[in-house]
Amino acid sequence: MKAKATTSEGPEAQTFFRPRRLGHVNLVVDDVDRSMDFYMEVVGLEEAYRRPKVKAGFLSNGNTHHDIGLVESDGPLGQGRPAGLNHTAFELETEVELVADYDRAIAAGIEFDRTSDHDIAHAVYGCDADGNQYEVYADVIRDWRQARHGIVTKPKPDWTPGSTPPNGEKNYHRDPEIRRVEDAIFHPLRTTHAVLVLENFERAFETYRTVVGLSPLIGDADSDFAVLGGTVGERDIGLFRARRGRAPGLHHVGLRVWSETDLENSLKRLAEAGHEIEAAFDHPARRGVYIKDPDGIRLQFYVDRDSSAGTLRHCDEETALYLV
Ligand SMILES: [Fe+2]
Repeated sequence: MKAKATTSEGPEAQTFFRPRRLGHVNLVVDDVDRSMDFYMEVVGLEEAYRRPKVKAGFLSNGNTHHDIGLVESDGPLGQGRPAGLNHTAFELETEVELVADYDRAIAAGIEFDRTSDHDIAHAVYGCDADGNQYEVYADVIRDWRQARHGIVTKPKPDWTPGSTPPNGEKNYHRDPEIRRVEDAIFHPLRTTHAVLVLENFERAFETYRTVVGLSPLIGDADSDFAVLGGTVGERDIGLFRARRGRAPGLHHVGLRVWSETDLENSLKRLAEAGHEIEAAFDHPARRGVYIKDPDGIRLQFYVDRDSSAGTLRHCDEETALYLV
């Protein structure tokens, strides 16, 4: 099912959800245990909880209940799909907003894939025109560490927006305590963004703008690329056009690290451990490095030098793809 947002509605078109920011990225992987080890030992995230029955694992350094979710390809959540993006997930202010905006979207004829009660968050899932799934969710429990840790086996009840009294609390943490996994190679603060390469760029752009409700920061439906963000004002998602040599799908997931010095030290440790760097860049806007996870999913670790959108706006498309 695809969201029905179209470019013909113009810039004044109605928008639906209004997220704060990207909360997590969920990935399909071939072996969830192997990937959990990698994301703890190399990427530097802590295990938040696992759901072995459905072959899934979740990691966080404290930013939110999970920065990265992993589902195994041959498990019930992976459904036999190849390794890559499962979904991007955008954090809303409250469940009251989630329910109200969902109702308006349904009334306007927008279609969604499913809705879900995750215990700590309530969520709605839809797809962009390429079939990349997005999630919009609101936390319904503030103390997620208490509510979700270790092995989680609790079955998920059926839930549709409004079927339980919506929670009006802002349950996200504005200034969370971020933990460092000192023994790991990298030390990320959080997952900050995802970059997608799209066949149906214009329609996907409009879905992220009007349905998901992100604001364009760079570019528009007619540009070579676009970057959109939520109300916190960060660059949450980058959209690029599929071209020869640039296949559609997830291009990379971005994780911000503590400092440039920290990044330098991580690069030394990466080399000592015999891990390969796919690419590194040193630009006035951002210093960063790319590595691949065990399934070949590209991860960017970076520090911003100039976080304003201006520098990126004037980049050529290929530079921007790696710089976003
Ligand atoms: Fe999710």
